[in-house]
Amino acid sequence: MPKTIIVSNRLPVKISKTDDEYSLSSSEGGLATGLGSIYKQDNNVWIGWPGVEIADQDDKDKVSQQLKELSLIPVFLDQEEINQYYEGFSNEVLWPVFHYYSSTYASYKQSNWDYYQAVNKKFRDVILSVAEPGDVIWVHDYQLLLLPALVRHDLPDVSIGFFLHIPFPSHEMFRLIPWRSELLDGMLGADLIGFHTFDDVRHFLGTTSRILPVTTSSNIITTGERSIVVESFPMGIDEKKYASLPLQDDVKEQAQLIKDNFKSTKLILSVDRLDYSKGILQRLQAFELLLQLCPECIGTIALYMIVVPSRDTVPQYAHLRDEIDKKVGNINSIYRTMDWSPIHYYYRSFPIETLSALYATADVCLVTPMRDGMNLVSKEYVASRVNNDGVLIMSEMAGSSKELIDAIIVNPNNTGEVCRAILQAINMPPEEQRKRMIPMRQLVAKFNISHWVKIFMDRLKEVKLMQRSMQAR
Ligand code: G6P
Repeated sequence: MPKTIIVSNRLPVKISKTDDEYSLSSSEGGLATGLGSIYKQDNNVWIGWPGVEIADQDDKDKVSQQLKELSLIPVFLDQEEINQYYEGFSNEVLWPVFHYYSSTYASYKQSNWDYYQAVNKKFRDVILSVAEPGDVIWVHDYQLLLLPALVRHDLPDVSIGFFLHIPFPSHEMFRLIPWRSELLDGMLGADLIGFHTFDDVRHFLGTTSRILPVTTSSNIITTGERSIVVESFPMGIDEKKYASLPLQDDVKEQAQLIKDNFKSTKLILSVDRLDYSKGILQRLQAFELLLQLCPECIGTIALYMIVVPSRDTVPQYAHLRDEIDKKVGNINSIYRTMDWSPIHYYYRSFPIETLSALYATADVCLVTPMRDGMNLVSKEYVASRVNNDGVLIMSEMAGSSKELIDAIIVNPNNTGEVCRAILQAINMPPEEQRKRMIPMRQLVAKFNISHWVKIFMDRLKEVKLMQRSMQAR
């Protein structure tokens, strides 16, 4: 039976070594959490990096065997590949440029590009070692932009889908990259290219037609004999899981504990990976402004801020972490009282049960990225509000703001506006909370992760049929 081969830089589980044993834990980030629940179906497999360098061959074999039982196939990277392909090219070129941070954070080094090409080829070799006729290959995200064309070269007929989980920038940003044509050529190896939003699609079509000698008609790009379809597929979450967790006894207990700890306090929750694109410092500024302007807020509101460690070996991320530490310390030292703290800051990841308890308890969820492809935290909060209460504040720069239109939508650069939005949220009458939350919950329930996978895969089938019938003519 043909299978789907999911390919992403990171596997949905990561490996860590304690003494002589390798243990597995869940990976962070939207891609892993979003797709984590569906790859186990049928005889599908997921190819990716297990998150650490494993040098010893015996250890590699051991880990491969452990992963095989979970239908996961590792691509092992050595330290230099991690430094140059992952930290260097992926996270110091593509990530900042695609999130509109090119002037502050991007650095273009030839050796990073060389490694990026070499590692994409390494992924291709692993795919070729497991692909069988009829299989469908689904490549994910910015770390593997060259992979569709590399696979296409060896398997000209195979179905390849590509999905980008981060924003695709406007041509004016993308053109800055010295290897822009090669990257676009790489993506065009796919039959179907998906993005979260229509704006990403528009940017991609505009960029490709300006940089490459292709013809574009509506959402179809033609290059030589091949036509590639480009469309938006807003990613969903495992809604059922998030809606049922708050009903579990262990989650209820944790939720009760949180309520007891924050009895007469309105709880504002924020959850992000450590990243400058998430607007964490700007959010802290808005919260500080609120404390300055609103004396009644002292002692009656609290920001519960979870930052999940991420990429902290990349210098900009390490620096950001220090800045956040400083800012939180500064605000707490000024406003804290004997029995109240304005900010409860955690730099670590939490089990999903604790997250669920927080989602279910927080009066407000504050999601204010400067740029975000989709942002699944906003959808997780909505899905967890089984009583139809709570208020979501959402940055207009996140893909999910296009769907969650009943949230309070803010420009995250406008500190005053964010500050006013928090005030509006903590004072929102229950009836208005319901009126906003119900349609958002319905949307998140309907356009869930299974729906997302299904419409992408169905469309890929259609596109392939369309291509074959065009070739037969
Ligand atoms: C975002 C990206 C993913 C990435 C995740 C975590 O969600 O779209 O591709 O895996 O961040 O980042 P990391 O660098 O730790 O894999």
